Amino acid sequence: MTKHIGILTSGGDCPGLNAAIRGVAKACAGIYDMEVIGFRDGFKGLMQDRTVKLDASLVSGILTDGGTILGTSREKPHKMNIGGKICDMTDAIVDVYHKHHLDALVCLGGGGTQKNSLRLKQKGLNVITLPKTIDNDVFGTDITFGFDTALGIATEAVDRLHSTATSHHRVIVVELMGHRAGWLALGAGIAGGADVILIPEIPYKVEVVAKAILSRAKRGKRFSIVAVAEGAMDIKQAKQIKKLTDQKEKAKKKSQERTEISEELAQFHKEHLDHTVNLTRQLEQMTRIESRLTILGHLQRGGTPSAADRVLATRLGTACADFIEAGTFGCMVAARGSGVVALPLEEVAGQKNLVPLDHTWIKAARSVGTCLGD
Ligand code: F6P
Repeated sequence: MTKHIGILTSGGDCPGLNAAIRGVAKACAGIYDMEVIGFRDGFKGLMQDRTVKLDASLVSGILTDGGTILGTSREKPHKMNIGGKICDMTDAIVDVYHKHHLDALVCLGGGGTQKNSLRLKQKGLNVITLPKTIDNDVFGTDITFGFDTALGIATEAVDRLHSTATSHHRVIVVELMGHRAGWLALGAGIAGGADVILIPEIPYKVEVVAKAILSRAKRGKRFSIVAVAEGAMDIKQAKQIKKLTDQKEKAKKKSQERTEISEELAQFHKEHLDHTVNLTRQLEQMTRIESRLTILGHLQRGGTPSAADRVLATRLGTACADFIEAGTFGCMVAARGSGVVALPLEEVAGQKNLVPLDHTWIKAARSVGTCLGD
């Protein structure tokens, strides 16, 4: 009997999503004679039953396109914005799944998507996921698609900032994406030869950063590039976050105390949004060297995927079809060396792939004299 497969993209978009959609759809239809439909705009479109038939003509010619032909959203099944009210729409999603007689639902997403997919698995749906994000912070996979492209874009930005920083003898702070994980800032900082790299995993002292810049100036280097992940924090802020996070862990689920701590955390992150503006100002005051800030933002997520991302997305997407055919569900298709593994969602959801403090990238950065702010 023909199997029916649904597919959606959820969370922030990234280069390589279309290559993965194409990989899943071509292998499902071409090798296994399955029928594939796409749901628009993530879990929201699934709940609203907004579909598109992913036949051969639709997935042809999309390999090199950025973004996602399906559209995406950050809506969660259990906390969906319905006319301004937050509602649990999980049961409505389960109904749509059964209405289409789906044999499997493929969810392409980052950390949040793994958690949401696990919720659907617990409702009895045959879910299978693929790991995407420019942040490279999905647990259990060697790498996520989207990361390599973003790393190339961010590296080019750091490269280009050198000539203008040198010409004006300035400090240029460049903010790169990465709320919790510093892979992108660390990778682009190393590849682009940043003089200082600040990542969330290593809380920094602004005095240490200023000293590194001044010491370069003493050696006759009249410019400095500071690559900062958007989630990097100074030691004081990191302590505050740790305290609040520990308190939240201890507070009872759904308690008033937990809600209040969550609100405090949200407020903290809101205020932290412009921390690179403050950091740049502080560095200018402390070093007396003219300083500028570049925020790269969503440029890092846009445009054509790199060759490595196209290959990875195609590898994972086509392997996903094989797992569906074999009846392997409730898992994430993860890259391991040159192969793939199906990891149970319970082992992935709620975990994060942060940069380990003993990682070779950190050692390499320190060994070439890069200041990491600690
Ligand atoms: O998808 C990951 C990511 O790009 C993060 O690096 C960044 O912090 C976040 O998404 C930005 O999200 P949005 O596009 O929803 O503002």
